[in-house]
Amino acid sequence: MTVTVGIDQMGFYTPHLYLDMTALAQARGDDPAKYHVGIGQDKQAVIPPTQDVVTMAANAAAQILTPADQKTIKMVLFGTESGVDNSKATAVYLAHLLDLPADTRAIEIKQACYGATAGLQFAADYVRSHPTAKVLVIGADIARYGLRTAGEVTQGGGAVAMLVTANPRILALDPVSSYHTADVMDFWRPLGRSEALVDGKYSTNVYLDFFRTVWTDYQAQTHRTIADFAAFAFHIPFTKMGRKALRQILPEATPDQQTALTAAFEASQLDNRNVGNLYTGSLYLSLLSLLRHGNLQPGDRIGCYSYGSGAEGEFYSGRLQPDYRAGFNDAAVTALLAKRRAVSVAEYEELFQQQLDLTGTDVQLPVGTDPAPYYLAGRQHQQRQYRHRSEA
Ligand code: CAA
Repeated sequence: MTVTVGIDQMGFYTPHLYLDMTALAQARGDDPAKYHVGIGQDKQAVIPPTQDVVTMAANAAAQILTPADQKTIKMVLFGTESGVDNSKATAVYLAHLLDLPADTRAIEIKQACYGATAGLQFAADYVRSHPTAKVLVIGADIARYGLRTAGEVTQGGGAVAMLVTANPRILALDPVSSYHTADVMDFWRPLGRSEALVDGKYSTNVYLDFFRTVWTDYQAQTHRTIADFAAFAFHIPFTKMGRKALRQILPEATPDQQTALTAAFEASQLDNRNVGNLYTGSLYLSLLSLLRHGNLQPGDRIGCYSYGSGAEGEFYSGRLQPDYRAGFNDAAVTALLAKRRAVSVAEYEELFQQQLDLTGTDVQLPVGTDPAPYYLAGRQHQQRQYRHRSEA
């Protein structure tokens, strides 16, 4: 008998600070409509030095995991392009912070914005052959292009944590998936750099081309058409990008389906519009946004398009489960976003420079202002000092 496998729970974390895109546009001498409409972003998460991908992942996972879940996690797959060490996996720090059992595997997966999707698919394959196991999959990143760059408006950060199990509460994954790789220099971050290099227009075109390729291949493999889908969730480093992808395939739908798919897209981009870019977490924040704000029914099929520059694209699908709303804490995500504080452009610029540098010197960070349960207290002897509020 085939085991149903997929996403059982989803948690989300982004720090307590944000930058308003009108303020950024004004400071950069741009028309705010370009940022809000042309790019499609309203707010951008600002990452204090006391948060990195490890702490953000721990804060996201803590939103969903019960002690019973923690005991049965057999693997942690941490997708990120913003890892904190050239050798040691972020997943190992995370497993320690979450007090996971020692008989777990913990590794990091890197392929730009695609790492979490690789993690999700590897996790699903593992659970298909080990149906009692639970796998924790993380997509966490800090998107940094640099002050006064074209990409600045598409920065942000945060983490999505997903528990992959048999008989999942949220999304049962269809076993078929379509993927495509090509060696492309659209976005990369050479060793020693903390900001990405990007050919922004080219990256958008490659993203759209890859989507066309994997969507066509998926249909050939499954004989499904756009009529089989209630919604699509896209990798959306900025929301206009997903809108462009949807527009490519909308003509394949009837007028009524076009209206429904467009409404679903609007729901899927709401939270991303207010958080900004999560790189590998972006698709999964969009999926969560769709679940939170969309008008979906159990049994609906959702298509997911993942893209990581460099480049890898993948299209896969899943069926929404009857009790899907029990798989995430809607109120906690709403409260997290509502409680954030706006920073001025000057404060954002200062915080941008305060990320732990590469010198390796000892640092004590101003932890008192960060309300997150897990935070980074500083660095001693070249080692990051992770803490939980309960230890303060
Ligand atoms: N009112 C409304 N709209 C306006 C406007 C105004 N006043 N002024 C401009 N616009 C519109 C433009 O018409 C344009 O819309 P279309 O794309 O629909 O034509 C849009 O705003 C952007 O305008 P520009 O193209 O002039 O903007 P730009 O030159 O500043 O570049 C960008 C925009 C390419 C997105 C740039 O911000 C960038 O390079 N961003 C980073 C690249 C990126 O995120 N790529 C994503 C793939 S890579 C990835 O996801 C990372 C990974 O794998 C880890």
